[in-house]
Amino acid sequence: MTLKPTAQDKFSFGLWTIGWQAQDQFGGPTRKPLDTVEAIHKLAELGAYGLTFHDDDLFAFGSTDVERRHQIDRTKQALAETGIIIPMITTNLFSHPVFKDGGFTSNDRDVRRFALRKVLRNLDLAAEMGAKTFVMWGGREGAEYDHAKDIQGAIARYREGVNLLTQYVIDRGYDIKFAIEPKPNEPRGDILLPTVGHAMAFINTLEHPELVGLNPETGHEQMAGLNFTAGIAQALDHGKLFHIDLNGQRGVKFDQDLVFGHGDLFNAFTLVDLLEFGGPNGGRAYEGPRHFDYKPSRTEDYEGVWASAAANMRMYLLLKERAAAFRADPEVKAALAAARVDGVKTPTLNPGEGYAELLADRSSYEDFDADSYFNGKGFNFVHLNQLAVEHLMGAR
Ligand code: GCO
Ligand code: MN
Ligand code: MN
Repeated sequence: MTLKPTAQDKFSFGLWTIGWQAQDQFGGPTRKPLDTVEAIHKLAELGAYGLTFHDDDLFAFGSTDVERRHQIDRTKQALAETGIIIPMITTNLFSHPVFKDGGFTSNDRDVRRFALRKVLRNLDLAAEMGAKTFVMWGGREGAEYDHAKDIQGAIARYREGVNLLTQYVIDRGYDIKFAIEPKPNEPRGDILLPTVGHAMAFINTLEHPELVGLNPETGHEQMAGLNFTAGIAQALDHGKLFHIDLNGQRGVKFDQDLVFGHGDLFNAFTLVDLLEFGGPNGGRAYEGPRHFDYKPSRTEDYEGVWASAAANMRMYLLLKERAAAFRADPEVKAALAAARVDGVKTPTLNPGEGYAELLADRSSYEDFDADSYFNGKGFNFVHLNQLAVEHLMGAR
């Protein structure tokens, strides 16, 4: 296995990540703006295959049609020169003051209508750029005060908005699917659709649920104290992993957007293991882009920015290598068997069995020795985990 990223690895970066000028709540930018064309050439050099962006990353909010077209055309030119593609596009419904109470769910109807128009326009751009996934991160859709937002009303407006967008894509014949990105908080005190689970339930209420999936982000689930790998596994089970935002987060705090693997390293390891080897036959479980949504730290100059971009891809490939070694190790295979990990795949009922047969089966209850589970019948999970940690550490 090589640690040099290639297009087959499908690594992509948001223009707002490498291009982040590092302004935060407490201080202004520490870096100059990054030109899109330079970003594309640099990403190609590093071995990435894709660039993603918000409309406002490419051309400033309120640009004239001429300025907008100029930026689109020079981006296309750079893509043609490098072979970089645009797998995903997203809309900025959070920076401008007009969105201070959200876009789709603002209490102000005029803002909601404006937000929908901004997204429709950006869908046309997504189609033009060949993007197949359209991410919707509703960072401003939410509230700080419980009485300020009628949550049921806001969810209804969210649904109305997404239904309109799916109808638009169908009517225009665009080959685009939507991916909702959950986040528990920040910038709003509480954000609507805060976790993978909330978003998945919401999708089931839509007119075209088949066109809408998820773009879960490592740090966002971890900000809520949740296990990202477990959430991704459930999203895969529901057929809803349309895209993924990889980064690093250290515990329940503000959204750190560290390099992938620089936060909860073990969870990053189990995630890569799942994505790469968790398919039904042990192959890839997810075929889409491996998209990094991180922020090069405020301490870094551009040399550090590009080193951190490369670090994301290298972390992913190193973890993939470690996961492959873990899967191939005979001792791990034995430990998996001892832990009966495959056992959960066997249906609990026999073929054709219903509750009548189960009730008639004395071995399942009357003759079953539940007490034998006291002081015996351990599952050996800790040994399995020790082997996993050793593989991660390169100790095996
Ligand atoms: C964040 C989010 C964003 C989104 C992006 C795509 O916490 O700021 O992760 O970076 O991913 O806006 O829509
Ligand atoms: Mn984030
Ligand atoms: Mn994100």
